[in-house]
Amino acid sequence: MKFNGAIMHFSFVLYLITAVHGQIRYSIPEEMKIGSLIGNIAHDLGLDLKRLRTGRAHIAHGDNIQYAELRTDKGILAVKERIDREQLCGELTPCSFAFEIILENPIDLHQVTVEILDINDNAPTFQKKEIKWEISESAAPGARFLLGGAEDPDVGVNALQRYVLSANEHFVLKQHERPDGVKYAEMVLEKPLDRELRPRLSLALTAVDGGSPQRSGTVAIEVTVLDANDNAPVFNQSLYKSSVPENVPKGTFVIKVSASDADKGSNAYVSYSIPHNNDVFAINESTGDITLSGVLDYEKVKRYELNILGTDGGGLTDSTKVVVDVTDVNDNIPTVAVMSSSKSVEEDALPGTVIAVIKVQDVDSGSNGDVLCYINDDVPFKMKPSSNHIYSLQTAATLDRETTPNYNVTVVACDRGTPSLCNNLNLSIKVTDVNDNTPVFEKKTYTAHIPENNTPGLTLIILKAGDIDCSQNARVNYLLEEGMVNGVSVSTYVSVNGESGVVRAVRSFDYEQMKSFQFRVKAQDGGSPPLSSNVSVDVIIQDQNDNAPQILYPIQSGGSLVAEMVPRAADVGYLVTKVVAVDVDSGQNAWLSYKLQKATDRALFEVGAQNGEIRTARQVTDKDPVKQKLTVVVEDNGQPSRSAIVNVNVAVADSFPEVLSEFTDFTHEKEKNENLTFYLVLALAAVSFLFICCLVVIISVKIYRWRQSRLFYQSSLPVIPYYPPHYADTGRTGTLQQMYNYEVCMTTDSRKSDCKFSRPSSQGVLITDSSASETLQRIQEKERFINDFNSPEQLRLRRAGRRQRDAGGE
Ligand SMILES: *[C@@H]1O[C@H](CO)[C@@H](O)[C@H](O)[C@H]1NC(C)=O
Ligand SMILES: *[C@@H]1O[C@H](CO)[C@@H](O)[C@H](O)[C@H]1NC(C)=O
Ligand SMILES: *[C@@H]1O[C@H](CO)[C@@H](O)[C@H](O)[C@H]1NC(C)=O
Ligand SMILES: *[C@@H]1O[C@H](CO)[C@@H](O)[C@H](O)[C@H]1NC(C)=O
Ligand SMILES: *[C@@H]1O[C@H](CO)[C@@H](O)[C@H](O)[C@H]1NC(C)=O
Repeated sequence: MKFNGAIMHFSFVLYLITAVHGQIRYSIPEEMKIGSLIGNIAHDLGLDLKRLRTGRAHIAHGDNIQYAELRTDKGILAVKERIDREQLCGELTPCSFAFEIILENPIDLHQVTVEILDINDNAPTFQKKEIKWEISESAAPGARFLLGGAEDPDVGVNALQRYVLSANEHFVLKQHERPDGVKYAEMVLEKPLDRELRPRLSLALTAVDGGSPQRSGTVAIEVTVLDANDNAPVFNQSLYKSSVPENVPKGTFVIKVSASDADKGSNAYVSYSIPHNNDVFAINESTGDITLSGVLDYEKVKRYELNILGTDGGGLTDSTKVVVDVTDVNDNIPTVAVMSSSKSVEEDALPGTVIAVIKVQDVDSGSNGDVLCYINDDVPFKMKPSSNHIYSLQTAATLDRETTPNYNVTVVACDRGTPSLCNNLNLSIKVTDVNDNTPVFEKKTYTAHIPENNTPGLTLIILKAGDIDCSQNARVNYLLEEGMVNGVSVSTYVSVNGESGVVRAVRSFDYEQMKSFQFRVKAQDGGSPPLSSNVSVDVIIQDQNDNAPQILYPIQSGGSLVAEMVPRAADVGYLVTKVVAVDVDSGQNAWLSYKLQKATDRALFEVGAQNGEIRTARQVTDKDPVKQKLTVVVEDNGQPSRSAIVNVNVAVADSFPEVLSEFTDFTHEKEKNENLTFYLVLALAAVSFLFICCLVVIISVKIYRWRQSRLFYQSSLPVIPYYPPHYADTGRTGTLQQMYNYEVCMTTDSRKSDCKFSRPSSQGVLITDSSASETLQRIQEKERFINDFNSPEQLRLRRAGRRQRDAGGE
């Protein structure tokens, strides 16, 4: 409207120009007070006030607002209305309004132009109170952010001149002017934003004009920094350490790792992972708790080093290291192993002999792996440590297989952990045999009793020797030791079975030749070298009743015998004669008893059962016949007993002639009877002599044997059988014991002199009253008798006997 008014006014002015004499121009600032003077128009037109009055000068009014009024009284123009240049002209410059002053009488027209000068009455203004920007922190420097412009209706210097941005680190202001002259500003990012540092920025943009005083307008700029994932997660430790006992169960919490991210939201969410997982540990993706997911074994892996990755939502990562030290737990039993073992040891091994080498181990560490090794203490062995973990099992004492053939050794290995774990190993150690024991006979000496006349091959005795060694070392062999018995090798008497120890007779023994003999048997084992021992075996030959008693007196002849004289005056118990008999057997077998078998008058005579004495049993009467005949039986005590029979003739008479008369059938022998008497006397003398000799011999033999007895026993020489001419004794005993009553009777009457063996012909008389085999034995060998028969004495006797017999036979 302002604009239009001006133009209309302008055309109106042009229209009036021809009638107009003068033109007046004024300049005034806008916004003057009403009534303020614009100009002295009267003066300027050269008119006097009267003219004005009379001409009724006035301002030609148009549609426009009357900014000015003419005061005719003073001839001046004054401000009638507030003049706002911005309202009147806008941005048009220069800004003016014009009007005419019209005078009448004469009409006179004067144009007046009033230029309005701008004053700075407007500040620049922004359309918005506040400018909001959301800028990502990742925005690159140089990024522009348009801020728009402010408006200032003033013109010229009073119009908007420039913008000013409040001080900040990040942005600078850049101003632009459009071709139409509008000024605007933009922010240029100079330094990157960091949300993490300053999430918001408050800036102010100020627009200033050039007026004086200067006016300005300000708008606030709120910058919100948007997050960009510009921060990687950061672990709060570069190394995490933890230690875990090896025996903890799965799922045990180990350690927590923690990473933080300075970003926001998902950019700040850190997820944890173990990139090169070995299935032993697991990590909670969200909490960073590391737990055990596998089995730990200190003996296999002592330390784990894990790389942990923390990743934020934007994919940025950080890594850290977790070191897990596995600590040892005494979870392993020590092992005991035999590295080498001989399994057996010879019983003569010296103490300190190594039997086995044993290795003990414990894979645990420290005291859990420290192993103590020992064995049970009831065995003669010891453990000797030889090097680390290695022990040698040695003998600690001498061994004896015979007492303990094997040992059970328990090797115990215990570690020092708490609680301590133990293991054991059983070794069976065999003690092998060494031939260190000699065979031992069951008895110190063996005595075999064997009846004479045995069959060859008869088992005498079974020897038995034991050897406590074993197998070959205990295999006993029996050997007969070479020796002599009676001058011949003992092997001709006995044989020994090497395997069984059975001793057999090789020949038949004769008690009358040999009562006993001795030999040694050796028992030898099969060891190398062999060991042996020997034992003495006594063979005692037992007598058998194989010899009948032999009648020594009265001499038996085929027909009649010489008669013993009994005087008629003889008293009861008169000793008529004595039957003398001998038995070469011994003991009971030689124990003789006498019995009257037949008699002419049984009441007249009796025979001493023990001594063979024939005595009268009653007073001899005249009625008794001269010629009496007695038959006496001599029996030994053997089983079965053997006997001999002797006939005794007795003449009951007071004188020899009487006898002769009675024994008429002997008359042709009268002269021989005289001889007989002589021979009887001679024989009696001889018998007495022999008796004395016997006594002497007995005594001397006794002394001799007493002296020689020791020598005899010690010497292993065989006893050479030697028989003194009249007395033989191969027995060992040389003493007569008191309890034995013996008597020797000999007679010179040896009318019987046949040398037939079936008939008794011995002259030696020996009566032994003995009871046991241990008795002094007297042996009269048949041969000896034969020898004796050949002595001159005997020959004479025999001759005499033969003559007598011949005489009796006739
Ligand atoms: C690391 O973070 C964890 C969890 O927030 C905390 O328990 C631990 O003390 C922190 N370590 C250090 C060295 O700050
Ligand atoms: C991780 O830990 C959280 C909180 O304790 C739990 O809810 C979540 O189940 C765990 N994740 C796994 C995989 O165990
Ligand atoms: C050794 O052990 C074996 C088998 O266990 C047993 O038969 C034997 O009697 C034991 N020996 C000793 C000497 O203990
Ligand atoms: C060894 O022997 C002992 C005692 O006889 C027994 O207790 C143990 O179990 C045995 N050890 C082995 C490994 O056989
Ligand atoms: C028999 O044994 C004894 C010891 O018992 C010994 O002195 C002797 O020499 C042995 N004799 C033989 C022939 O071996």
